[in-house]
Amino acid sequence: MPKYHVTTFGCQMNEHDSERMKGMLESLGYAEAAEQDDADLILFNTCSIRETADSKFVGHLGHAKRLKNEDPSRVVGVGGCWAQSVKDEVFEQFPFVDVAFGPGQVHKLAEFLNSDSLTAQGYFEFEGFTGDLPAHREREFQGWVQISVGCNCVCSYCIVPSTRGREVSRDPDDLIREIATMAGDGVREVTLLGQNVNSYGRDLEKSRRISFAELLREIDAIDGVDRIRYTSPHPKDMREDVLRAHAELPALCEHIHLPLQSGSSAVLKAMKRTYDRERFEDRVRLIREFVPDCALSTDIIVGFPGETDADFEQTLEVVEATSFDSAFTFVYSPRRGTVAAELPDQVPHEVKRERMARLVGLVQQHALQRAHRFVGRDIEVLVEGASRTDAAKLRGRSRHNKVVNFGGLAGAGELTTVTVESATSQTLAGTESLTARAVA
Ligand code: 5AD
Ligand code: SF4
Repeated sequence: MPKYHVTTFGCQMNEHDSERMKGMLESLGYAEAAEQDDADLILFNTCSIRETADSKFVGHLGHAKRLKNEDPSRVVGVGGCWAQSVKDEVFEQFPFVDVAFGPGQVHKLAEFLNSDSLTAQGYFEFEGFTGDLPAHREREFQGWVQISVGCNCVCSYCIVPSTRGREVSRDPDDLIREIATMAGDGVREVTLLGQNVNSYGRDLEKSRRISFAELLREIDAIDGVDRIRYTSPHPKDMREDVLRAHAELPALCEHIHLPLQSGSSAVLKAMKRTYDRERFEDRVRLIREFVPDCALSTDIIVGFPGETDADFEQTLEVVEATSFDSAFTFVYSPRRGTVAAELPDQVPHEVKRERMARLVGLVQQHALQRAHRFVGRDIEVLVEGASRTDAAKLRGRSRHNKVVNFGGLAGAGELTTVTVESATSQTLAGTESLTARAVA
């Protein structure tokens, strides 16, 4: 049996594309190799969101090159956003690469593997969602579902619209059918994926069109789905109907990832985010009105071109006022082909670093403070397996998306109740409630 190995970089969307890639390869008769060195087919699913993502991947390619030199019958493939952003140049820069394909072209890998010439083939069309490939799920009780592909936004810093194409929503009936099948197979937690999930449906023809909030309601009604998550919504499209769904649907988790990017309206304008600080703060107010205990996380970029000290202070103000449960913070990185990469007033590296340090300090302070509200509470945890820090303990995730390490007896895939005893900015710790086990 030929063997494959996939290394994945980037976001959950890429992780899911890799699951589909693996599922497809297994249906073609390939088995997964534990190491690259044992694989006949070496694949990379790449990311290009920041320069660090590019360089990390190029470092990994060196090893594949050595393996290919040792045994030229090995096949090396590069898929995903980086591949799309450089397209056929990949074969000039890295002649040992046999096949390259964009994020939407996972299924073309099968065509390539069945073709006569296993060398220098590139597949870079945008075709929308390309069929139901079987996914090889890492955990049988958690599943990802792509509800749309591509992005119609024009955020001036972002490479994704050029790597994943225009937004195409999947047919709601297909989605419901897929999720019902997953639930039948034992998936209890479903994460809906899209570059901009809450603009879901707008491109569908009228007779089939449903909104994101309606989609959530239909998924909530599926038997066996205990938890629904989604990522990422866009603040411009965050409407009351979605928050009403949060308040009403039992399966929809109390966590919203709402990317802020900057707290300065001037910077948001230059980023072409199409909302301002007031709109963002208003969305936060609405979230807290409908779901008072909702966990809120965000993405923030520091050092966007032209960001002044006063702009950055406004970001700190919004972080202070919102008190996020967690935040991913990024130093702005110019990306090829984006509008922002050509802007004057790129912020010096040293200034970016200083701002980042201040932001991270504030974010952590709030994350810790927010996490402490769970201490003493009994919370629902979906058990994922053994704790990474202490093998005698279990690890799971709360509905608020907190990692929980706890003593207990529950098995992976079970929902249980944990009494929280302590908290750090990242994780909660506690003990499985004995009454929960008695009842179960
Ligand atoms: N530089 C830094 N961060 C970026 N992001 C997207 N593009 C860039 C860039 N050029 C961040 C945004 C986005 C997250 C996934 O990555 O915050 O929400
Ligand atoms: Fe995901 Fe963006 Fe990276 Fe592509 S570039 S893999 S969409 S994070």
